[in-house]
Amino acid sequence: MKETSVLCLLFLISLLSCTTNQARLTVSPSSSQFFEGDFVSLSCEEDDSSAGWTLRRNTSKQQRSQCRDGWGKPAGSTCNISGVLQLDSGVYWCESREGPISNMVNLTVTGGSVILQSPVLPVMEGDDVTLLCKTKTTPSNLPAAFYKDGSLIRKQPTGHMTIQHVSRSDEGLYKCDISGHGESPSSWITVTADQKEAGEGDIITHVMYITIKISNNQKQPIR
Ligand SMILES: *[C@@H]1O[C@H](CO)[C@@H](O)[C@H](O)[C@H]1NC(C)=O
Ligand SMILES: *[C@@H]1O[C@H](CO)[C@@H](O)[C@H](O)[C@H]1NC(C)=O
Ligand SMILES: *[C@@H]1O[C@H](CO)[C@@H](O)[C@H](O)[C@H]1NC(C)=O
Repeated sequence: MKETSVLCLLFLISLLSCTTNQARLTVSPSSSQFFEGDFVSLSCEEDDSSAGWTLRRNTSKQQRSQCRDGWGKPAGSTCNISGVLQLDSGVYWCESREGPISNMVNLTVTGGSVILQSPVLPVMEGDDVTLLCKTKTTPSNLPAAFYKDGSLIRKQPTGHMTIQHVSRSDEGLYKCDISGHGESPSSWITVTADQKEAGEGDIITHVMYITIKISNNQKQPIR
């Protein structure tokens, strides 16, 4: 019985370390769209630095290429791109040697003069989200029109639009337009349930399962 408990405890510890040994890709400045020439810094924020996370990307020209392949300046788990080009548009993620991958982000670099600054990471249900429509040359307070899945949703006099208490129905493809300057590219806004709560729920399920196993074992006749 003692041995079973120890094994269960070890299993639980490994389970906990499995769920925490993850990398999170963050983008700074936090936006999914950039103008050509902007500075972008990408970081694999790791809970376990020994896991050796590598930033990778897929673009229209290259697959699974790394920061040190020439498109960025690597330093540890950070990769800086000074002066992004349209060719830097693509999907970015962090990958460990052992296989697990982080969240993925879509970055779009435009050669045009309008971008939509939208959250690059999934937003939590219930949060407020502010979108900013800005031009390359003028301060960001021009009137802008915002579109979701191709339909006009709002016209804002200052180029900001806040969606309060986002829900799953706010998920979609967004873009904006500034009269006389042009249209931004489109970006996905993803809405998720609170990931932390979901993760804790999984662990609780396992703990419950283990507790049930222990009590089942105790009922077995002693030989
Ligand atoms: C990147 O490209 C490879 C090869 O085409 C593909 O297998 C992989 O699924 C792509 N990854 C992402 C995140 O799009
Ligand atoms: C990347 O940029 C950040 C923020 O500007 C800076 O602190 C860091 O030193 C840079 N790293 C490299 C390798 O250029
Ligand atoms: C990236 O963009 C593609 C196409 O627009 C979309 O299907 C995919 O869900 C996006 N991925 C993320 C992580 O936003």
